[in-house]
Amino acid sequence: MISDIALPASRGQVGTPLIAIGERRDPSGPILEPDHRNTIIIIMGRDDMPDGLTLNKITSQKGIGITEAARRVADLGWTPSYVKEAMAFPTDYKISKAPRDPMKQVLRSYFPMQEEKDNRVYGALDAALRGDMFRNVEPRWIEWMKLFLAIIPFPEISAARSMATLGQLAPGDDLRTGFTMQMIDEFRHSTIQMNLKKWYMENYIDPAGFDITEKAFGKCYATTIGRQFGEAFLTGDAITASNIYLQVVAETAFTNTLFVAMPSEAARNGDYALPTVFLSVQSDESRHIGNGHSMLMSVLKEPDNHLLLERDIRYSFWQNHMIVDAAIGTIIEYGTKNRDKNKESYAELWHRWIFEDYYRTYMLPLEKYGIKIHHDDVHEAFDSIVKKNYVHKIAQFFSAGWWANFWRIEAMTERDFEWFESKYPGWYDEFGVWWENYAKLSKPGSVPITFADTGYVYPHRCWSSLVPCVIREDFQVDEVDGELYTYASEVDRWTHKEAFAAEYQGRPTPAMGRFSGRRQWEEVYDGWDLADAIQDMGFVRPDGKTLVAQPHLSFEEKDMWTLDHVRGHTIRSPLLALREMTPQQRQAHVEEYRKGFKIRRV
Ligand SMILES: [Fe+2]
Ligand SMILES: [Fe+2]
Repeated sequence: MISDIALPASRGQVGTPLIAIGERRDPSGPILEPDHRNTIIIIMGRDDMPDGLTLNKITSQKGIGITEAARRVADLGWTPSYVKEAMAFPTDYKISKAPRDPMKQVLRSYFPMQEEKDNRVYGALDAALRGDMFRNVEPRWIEWMKLFLAIIPFPEISAARSMATLGQLAPGDDLRTGFTMQMIDEFRHSTIQMNLKKWYMENYIDPAGFDITEKAFGKCYATTIGRQFGEAFLTGDAITASNIYLQVVAETAFTNTLFVAMPSEAARNGDYALPTVFLSVQSDESRHIGNGHSMLMSVLKEPDNHLLLERDIRYSFWQNHMIVDAAIGTIIEYGTKNRDKNKESYAELWHRWIFEDYYRTYMLPLEKYGIKIHHDDVHEAFDSIVKKNYVHKIAQFFSAGWWANFWRIEAMTERDFEWFESKYPGWYDEFGVWWENYAKLSKPGSVPITFADTGYVYPHRCWSSLVPCVIREDFQVDEVDGELYTYASEVDRWTHKEAFAAEYQGRPTPAMGRFSGRRQWEEVYDGWDLADAIQDMGFVRPDGKTLVAQPHLSFEEKDMWTLDHVRGHTIRSPLLALREMTPQQRQAHVEEYRKGFKIRRV
């Protein structure tokens, strides 16, 4: 057994095996047999390589063609024919046709390419420091990175796990190689993003918040939205989660806003680190899109799957829109100091990437194969951004509960107002006074804006996408399995009630799974005092009283809010209150809620 093997003194030295198979521990001890009961770890280092064999030499050996290499790699796969494998990741889809690997990437070309990309990232981080990036970067932007980099490594690692699912489900060994590379990519993405977060923490003027992101991520009232996103890659029907939600929708449509729009805005705010890291990430996505498309084509072959595809594309598109547009839309529009009127707004970017590129060239052609596409949802999603102010309402929500976050949100100013009004006409009328109030209430000792007499109505939460139900007129209530739930829109209601049910349009769907658990932040903290909830979340600085979050960017001690400033206010769950109402009260409440509110000056 490995536990009683005395480790040689040279442990950890590169190139020295810890212990070799067959070697005696001491002359009287047993000889270790090379079988699986005594697993021996041998650390190979450069010294162990045959003389003169280096990575360079291996990779520069005269190779075989990439197609031939991909074929031989796939040949090494082994699927037992004498036993039926248990379904580790259940799906209701039928998959009979083996998908092809469109990219035919093999390790020999993969590793040098990725190594080069990593080297460039680390070189650029070093150069940014030497160029004194933190002297010029906008704190407003870096604060929002506490949120962004709390969320994003999680979906990345979830995506890595999804590849295990897809590798198991894909028949044949061709595309398994593609999924393997994607898994390594996703690990790389998660780790370089974690490293970027650490780098900001070490160099930015106010590191508080960066240090707790991994713990804070599952607790904060804003980040649970991101949690729903990453968990959706892994839960429910395996093909729904890993191939449709992740590959066909998130990778193919929404990584553009995540990994292309975000870096552009970062650069405009003097942050040259984020673009380097995220463009390195984005350069892997074309392979992921290819993998997802290949798997989709293989699933499409089976007419029995068409109904499920219709359901899953609808659910995934809508929820990606609800979550990604909430988070990224807000960060891009409200986390920036750059108010150049010639740059595209989030709505314009969305139209170019999601509507023109994705919907018209990828989603729409699926109709040719007999898949029903919900065109109205795509138009509705766009309208929610340009006509119904979805992103602005989410930003209002984030700022309304600034104290429940672990980053600072500063008030919008005249310059911001002017840009918003030019890009989104009518903006000032709906949001101007809110932000003026926010500025006025940013001094410690003021009433937290959530509880001030502004006319703001704290929103319900959507049970499906976990975003707040901010487009009031679209608010929905329904009953599932005898319990009452609230939803941000009709598609969200349909997602919970119909898509995630035991059957879909008469067809049994046992693999789909259910939304369950204590999903809502407000329900978890219902009845709690603000100060106690903040302490419970761990959003307090090392002095034990100053909040991590602040509604301003002042770094002076006299401007900092502490637990005492927020104590005495109680958190209430709108959902629990709704469940307690009589049917008449409830109907009146829903009608009132749908009317919306008008903010008044405090
Ligand atoms: Fe990724
Ligand atoms: Fe990816």
